[in-house]
Amino acid sequence: MNASVISDTAFSTLIRTASHEQHAEAETTTFMGDMLGGKLGVEAYARYTEQLWFVYEALESGARALVDDPVAGPFIQPELMRLAALERDLGHLRGPRWRSTLSALPATEAYAARVAECARSWPGGYVAHHYTRYLGDLSGGQIIRDRAEKTWGFERKGDGVRFYVFEDIANPAAFKRGYRELLDRVRADDLEKQRIVSECKRAFALNTAVFLALGEEFPLSA
Ligand code: HEM
Repeated sequence: MNASVISDTAFSTLIRTASHEQHAEAETTTFMGDMLGGKLGVEAYARYTEQLWFVYEALESGARALVDDPVAGPFIQPELMRLAALERDLGHLRGPRWRSTLSALPATEAYAARVAECARSWPGGYVAHHYTRYLGDLSGGQIIRDRAEKTWGFERKGDGVRFYVFEDIANPAAFKRGYRELLDRVRADDLEKQRIVSECKRAFALNTAVFLALGEEFPLSA
């Protein structure tokens, strides 16, 4: 990336533009397409939700130690936290013993391990993962919720899709604007910004790898 592009462009624009291609790739995986196209059973959705549990467990257990961090701290906001909602959804999808059925795909293990590593040792990298998940959930996540409600008959914004419902964010568009302002003020020099953008691309690739693995587990042609 050209040095002047980095210093002249708002960081929120930079990170969004730089990950655009990876976004399209993740969005158009067979698994996502089949799931959003209503072609898969609820078990595929449950398996996907289960994978998210591992990712958010790493993101949110790592968050506590970063609250006062000058780089990552401003991003950590209680209204974003998703683990409790995911656990409620899994209880609905898998029953009261859902915890004993949990298993991470190898691709999910790799994703969660990278998030945990960033949380432990690189706040800028943690910001990249934070952005990739939460801003996505607040955006395309709403499309997934709508399709899931229609395909598998979950109550609107109820059990099964609570992960996508940010109860404490009344105005997601305003929240996203505020989030982008935080990105624009991130305490990072140009080199670190470039590293964060690269980590964001890696975060998208880790998501795509999970979708590819899920696609193998739930092939349509079976
Ligand atoms: C089929 C699946 C998906 C759909 C339909 C979708 C759709 C969208 C849409 C419509 C937006 C734009 C919202 C806006 O302009 O405010 C968006 C933004 C975003 N999505 Fe997705 N998305 C999908 C999958 C993903 C995945 C897998 C990720 C990464 C884990 C992701 C991460 C993001 C991020 C980070 C943004 C915010 C971009 C920004 O404004 O900076 N999305 N998505």
